[in-house]
Amino acid sequence: MTEELLVVKNLKKYYPITGGVLGGEIGVVKAVDDVSFTVKRGETLGLVGESGCGKSTTGRSLLRLIEPTAGEVYFDGVNVSALSIEEMRKMRRDMQIVFQDPFASLNPRHNIEKILEEPLIVHGMGSSAERKKRVQEMLEVVGLSSYHARRYPHQFSGGQRQRIGIARALMLNPKLIVADEPVSALDVSIQSQVLNLMQDLQRDLGLTYLFIAHDLSVVRHISDRVGVMYLGRIVELTSSAQLYSNPLHPYTKALLSAVPTPDPDAARERVILQGDVPSPANPPSGCTFHTRCPHVTDECRTTRPLFQDVGDGHFVACHLYKS
Ligand SMILES: Nc1ncnc2c1ncn2[C@@H]1O[C@H](COP(=O)(O)OP(=O)(O)O)[C@@H](O)[C@H]1O
Ligand SMILES: [Mg+2]
Repeated sequence: MTEELLVVKNLKKYYPITGGVLGGEIGVVKAVDDVSFTVKRGETLGLVGESGCGKSTTGRSLLRLIEPTAGEVYFDGVNVSALSIEEMRKMRRDMQIVFQDPFASLNPRHNIEKILEEPLIVHGMGSSAERKKRVQEMLEVVGLSSYHARRYPHQFSGGQRQRIGIARALMLNPKLIVADEPVSALDVSIQSQVLNLMQDLQRDLGLTYLFIAHDLSVVRHISDRVGVMYLGRIVELTSSAQLYSNPLHPYTKALLSAVPTPDPDAARERVILQGDVPSPANPPSGCTFHTRCPHVTDECRTTRPLFQDVGDGHFVACHLYKS
C-alpha cells in the first residue's frame, strides 16, 4: 500500500470553442493546463483559486465525470485513465463527490430514503431491508434523524441538504471524497458546522479529502496541505502552515492579503492584484500570472516557470520566488 491514495500527473482539460460559419473548432479553453499533485491517505488537500481557475474541472476530471484531454490519474495504485467505462463505474464506489449546491444535485421528486438508497441500488448492494438500514445509519452519522428519510429535499435547510449530500457520498463507504466548494452556498454560521462534521467524519471513517474552495480562510482549518490554482495551473502547493506563514508566489500573497488576519501586527507583504483574470481561451505567454504580477520581468513574459519543490515539499512555479 503506497502512502499516496491519489496521484495526478500532468492533467489537462481543454474545451473546444466552436464557431464561425461552419461551426468548426476555432480555439480551446484551457480549463486545466498541466496540473500535477498527490493526496496522501487520510490527508485533506485544499485546492483554492478564483472562480473559473479550473478547480471544478480538476475535481471532476479525477473521477472522470469529465474526460480529461491528457494526463494520468492513479487512484490506490490503479491508473484510472486506462479503465473501461464499466471498470470506472466500479472504481467510483471508492471515489465520491460532494457538490457545492446540494439542492441542484438532489432529485426534488425523490424522498431522502430513495436518494440515499440509489448508489446502493446502482452498485447492486444489499437487500431492500439492508439498504434501508444503511440509510438510517447514515442519516444519524451526518447528524440527521431517521424520520428525515420520508421527507423531500425542499423540506430541508441549506445546511441539512448538504448533510444529505455528504450522506449520499458516504453510502458506498468511499476512500476519497472530492468536496467541490461544499460550504460556499451556505450561511457563514452554518459553514463551520458542516466543516466540523466533515472533519469528524474524516477522523471516524479514515477518509481522504480533496477540498475545493475559492476562499483561503475556509480551507485553512480543514487542510493539511493547500494547492493554489491560477488560470488552470497550480502555482503553489505546500503545508497549510507554510502557505500562510511563508507564501512564495505573488498570487498566493495577493489571496492572503484579502484574508483578514487575527493578528494585526503579523508582518505580511500586501499584494493588491491589478486587472482581471485573463481568459483561459487566450492565456498569457510565459508565466500566466505575469500580466498581474507586481514583480514581472522579461523572463516571466517569455518563459513558463517550472513547478518545482524548493524545499520540504514546498512547490512553487515562479522565477522570482527567492526575492
Ligand atoms: N463545459 C464547458 N465548456 C466550456 N468551457 C468550460 C466548461 N466548463 C468549464 N469551462 C471553463 O473552464 C474554466 C474553468 O472552469 P471551472 O473548472 O468550473 O472553474 P472553477 O471551478 O475554478 O470556478 C472556466 O473558464 C470555465 O468557463
Ligand atoms: Mg467550481
